Amino acid sequence: MVMTARELDPRVQAFLADGPKRLLIDGAWVEAASGRTFATLDPATGERLAEVAEGDATDIDRAVKAARRAFDEGPWSTMTPAERSRLIWRLADLIEERSEVLAQLETLDNGKPLAVARRDDLGGTVDYFRYYAGWPTKVEGATVPVSVANTFAYTLRQPVGVCGQIIPWNYPLMMAAWKVAPALAAGCTIVLKPAEQTPLSALLLGELCLEAGIPAGVVNVVTGYGETAGAALAAHPAVDKIAFTGSTEVGRLILRAASQSNLKKVSLELGGKSPNIVFADADLSQAREGAAGGIFYNMGQDCTAGSRVFVEGSIYDDVAQFIADHAKGLTVGSGLDAATDIGPLVSQEQVDRVLGYMQLGPTEGARVLSGGGRAQGAGLDRGFFVQPTVLADARNDMRVAQEEIFGPVVTVIPFRDVEDVIRQGNDIAYGLGAGVWTRDLAKAHRVAAAIRAGTVWVNTYGPTDPALPFGGFKASGHGREMGFEAIHLYTEVKSVWVNLGEG
Ligand code: NAI
Ligand code: MG
Repeated sequence: MVMTARELDPRVQAFLADGPKRLLIDGAWVEAASGRTFATLDPATGERLAEVAEGDATDIDRAVKAARRAFDEGPWSTMTPAERSRLIWRLADLIEERSEVLAQLETLDNGKPLAVARRDDLGGTVDYFRYYAGWPTKVEGATVPVSVANTFAYTLRQPVGVCGQIIPWNYPLMMAAWKVAPALAAGCTIVLKPAEQTPLSALLLGELCLEAGIPAGVVNVVTGYGETAGAALAAHPAVDKIAFTGSTEVGRLILRAASQSNLKKVSLELGGKSPNIVFADADLSQAREGAAGGIFYNMGQDCTAGSRVFVEGSIYDDVAQFIADHAKGLTVGSGLDAATDIGPLVSQEQVDRVLGYMQLGPTEGARVLSGGGRAQGAGLDRGFFVQPTVLADARNDMRVAQEEIFGPVVTVIPFRDVEDVIRQGNDIAYGLGAGVWTRDLAKAHRVAAAIRAGTVWVNTYGPTDPALPFGGFKASGHGREMGFEAIHLYTEVKSVWVNLGEG
């Protein structure tokens, strides 16, 4: 049963009905200076959900100035760590309290199944803020035994300053959490630029920041397009750091903008084309499920999607057929329908991009074992729906195996032995995630060490945890989020020399 507009939480309806959404700058809700707005769509219907302020360079400048003031003059930077900790924890409580509203907004704006939004996106967001709420009181420096007579030396770990955070549409709220929580814990101030496809949950997050008592100007939210608002943030001379998650192409633009402005610090979490490797000695029922789940989760719109499944020759046909049958059994539909496994893609642009790869596969010699096009059926014609697709007999040098598709499309590639799969697995520009399925402990650790990727999952695929570092090798990015690594991203280390000598 699809939830009807009337069954949506009344607070969601009120949020959507409340006129064009505005920008959060310096603790106040304001229109874009240009007065312009843009529509955010429901990808399940293609219809407009809400109008949202179209912030551009002028609004980014206003927001950066507010964040600068809040950082330079306080009270955020002069608050005790314990006070900051309490405010972040309070924010987590408010998100938890409002989690049904946020989950429904996420499903409406992004398309993902509501049960998944509730469990993973909201659950993950609350955990993430709670984890970082504990950090402000633990950001320590060190005393260092330098070899200079009569000298006392120590390090201070201090907030990096004003942070521009540009986030994508695949996990809109969770990506905001991954960026905002550690920056707040470190004592930074923020200008958050959500993706134009999915601005709603970040705006509600901004509202909750104010409600939690986080001072004006500490968290600013500027909605708008990447080419205008995003680019202005990346180029702004008063921004000390940019944190970005999105495409490799835009990652390059951001590095260039940083190098041509004030050399601001940059951390990048970019795409992937992750190998998910199934050895013949794996627990097969577990491995096959893991291979299918690794690609179809979140409609494949996941930076660590296991989009290259490598299968050892002797079990290749069995595993490829299993994934294809699994794909055929998935229910495609609205994220508000409780029966849905596969919601719509986020936008028509993504549909076009993904369909292009579905058509390219067979021309490169891959065999379509399931799916291969737009999803047909009652209620699917208006939305951005595609079929979960399996491309078998793929080779690692095909474009469908080398380029990030970011949809429910998997290439299944055969391999001979450990050496062969390590070579093929690493023969790619990216290095974000990898999976290994085997019962052989030595083989598992050997492959885990040899694959050049930021995360390797052994006999599981895809979990993340706020305590465990996450990020990429190679073209998958710079820096690590999560854990203490994210505190590193949002702090600078200062060395202090003190001469204790007299005269
Ligand atoms: P994108 O990289 O253009 O968008 C991500 C964010 O960057 C959005 O907030 C966008 O407004 C902003 N942005 C765009 N152009 C910018 C610019 N010139 N300066 C500053 N910010 C800018 O990604 P897009 O176009 O939505 O998706 C294209 C492909 O990127 C996807 O098919 C997928 O392959 C990849 N992608 C990867 C993600 C990941 O999690 N690593 C997330 C989203 C997309
Ligand atoms: Mg783009």
